[in-house]
Amino acid sequence: GRVVVLAGGLSHERDVSIRSGRRVADALRGAGVEVQVRDVDAGLLPSLLADRPDAVFPTLHGATGEDGAIQGILALLGVPYVGSSAAACRRTFDKPSAKDAIRAAGLSTPDWVAIPKTTFRDLGTQAVLDAVSAAFPLPLFVKPARGGSSLGAAAVRTREELPAALVACFAYDETALIERQITGREIAVAVVDTGDGPRALPAVEIVADSGVYDYAARYTAGITEFFAPARLTPDEEKAVADVAVRAHTTLGLSCMSRTDLILDADSTPWFLEVAVAPGLTETSSVPLAVGAANLDLGVLYRNLVEAVIA
Ligand code: DAL
Repeated sequence: GRVVVLAGGLSHERDVSIRSGRRVADALRGAGVEVQVRDVDAGLLPSLLADRPDAVFPTLHGATGEDGAIQGILALLGVPYVGSSAAACRRTFDKPSAKDAIRAAGLSTPDWVAIPKTTFRDLGTQAVLDAVSAAFPLPLFVKPARGGSSLGAAAVRTREELPAALVACFAYDETALIERQITGREIAVAVVDTGDGPRALPAVEIVADSGVYDYAARYTAGITEFFAPARLTPDEEKAVADVAVRAHTTLGLSCMSRTDLILDADSTPWFLEVAVAPGLTETSSVPLAVGAANLDLGVLYRNLVEAVIA
């Protein structure tokens, strides 16, 4: 069969997407799949209609790739694709709505408030800062409600740091997610479903040399240490796998996802967010999890493709 890997696009994570796409294409070819890599532009629809690939494997991160846009287009064209439905992507990519669903499902997620940019105009900056400071103990995290790769995200340790963090955040989205910062180990758990139900891959523990897993720490080789599998007790491993699978099913996801969480000193897993198109680059955690599960990357990706064609 012939598979089109979509990579690039116009989101802030274009470079990451190109790296993910290249790596997925290489792995699929290694598993004997005929692959074409294509960028996303106005020529996409005519080319998909003309070429009619057996399936599309979108490795598009951020806007268009994870907000349901590309999934809606592929569904409209009737082209099978690896990924979740447009509605599930939309719900998941919006961190406040994902956290709402996760909390309603009974899982722990740090307290948060979502503040649209317009609130500052309506209430005044000082009033908003006062309200946030009163409601949340420091430290906090400020993140764009919709976005990825830690772009526009910052830890806020003092009240004085809050305005600059919000300005940086609003460069990426119209809404800021302000979240309590939970201290603990940073864990990522991939969930895959190749047709027989979702299952968690071994958890990966992430330790950034700088202490902050930011954009540079994500994509610069050698400055972040990954433990795959994570250094967890069997109970902890089970707890984080359970959160990831429940997040995947609660949010109605398909094929593959990656849940990011913090495991605190009491071994409680705190849900942070889910990537519906997780990074698949050479410095990303999902390929490490696949290796830790003793699976071949190319075979897994081929199985994901075959499951959506079937
Ligand atoms: N947003 C990046 C690609 C990730 O979640 O891995």
